[in-house]
Amino acid sequence: MATDFSETTATDAVVRSFSETPDDRLKAVLTSLTVHLHNFVRETEPTQHEWEQGIDFLTDVGHTCDGIRQEFILLSDVLGVSMLVDAINNRKPVGATESTVLGPFHVVDSPERELGSDIALAGDAKRCVVRGKVRSVDSSTIPGAVVDVWQADDAGFYDIQLPDLIPERNLRGLFTADDEGAFWFRTIIPKYYPIPADGPVGNLLRASHRHPYRPAHIHFISGAEGYSPVTTHLFIEGSPYLDDDTVFGVKESLVRAVQQVDDAPLAQHYGVANPFDLIEFDIVLNTVADTVRVTA
Ligand code: BEZ
Ligand code: FE
Repeated sequence: MATDFSETTATDAVVRSFSETPDDRLKAVLTSLTVHLHNFVRETEPTQHEWEQGIDFLTDVGHTCDGIRQEFILLSDVLGVSMLVDAINNRKPVGATESTVLGPFHVVDSPERELGSDIALAGDAKRCVVRGKVRSVDSSTIPGAVVDVWQADDAGFYDIQLPDLIPERNLRGLFTADDEGAFWFRTIIPKYYPIPADGPVGNLLRASHRHPYRPAHIHFISGAEGYSPVTTHLFIEGSPYLDDDTVFGVKESLVRAVQQVDDAPLAQHYGVANPFDLIEFDIVLNTVADTVRVTA
């Protein structure tokens, strides 16, 4: 005789329904999802109306997605899930540069640029120099490492957000480190900015009296043969929102001061007016073997 589907039997019934799932991982995930989802419903006891509001919200999130906008990832970001998944998947040896969220503004075909290039293609904002070395955790430098950089401008916008106003590929560059693993480029100091808040995720933030801002940062992806790539940011010391990034992406080890340098020959070397602003950001990679050891 069939067992009634009730508050008591619900979870077992659904878990059992997945018992023939041939893929073990899928079966484990579906089982866990069922258990946690049912516990969530038991704990919060939604009214029918609240349940429909939840469904409407997720429907709205889906409808807000298109080829460029990915509202589900944004939802995952503001719920801290993106950073949790990132942390689980990037357990690194001590000393390696910590990872953080990729975000929606990376482009796959970042423009290759010469070391020392000015990546600010527009505006007359004061240029600063960003320089660093790509090293391994044992301190040896990594010649030829790739350093992909992208950032918002001094008003807090990425090129792809305002394609009619900002030149394509503004504040982006794909660099190859020199024989000593060094990279350097000229840029402007980015401003803090809000994540896209004109959709359902913005509504959620407003309903919970949360702000949509991220502190000022520059994104990096760096990698080299034999090393695990890292997706990370440098955060500008003193920026608003360092303590309450709306996507929880800040790590103390990634915050860097903007140093004022008064050194005419060095300014000339970098092609900027003296005195100038300098940000130093070394990127420390670990070998693939080390990643396996840490995660095993
Ligand atoms: C970003 O830093 O580009 C970003 C990250 C997560 C959500 C929105 C923007
Ligand atoms: Fe960003």
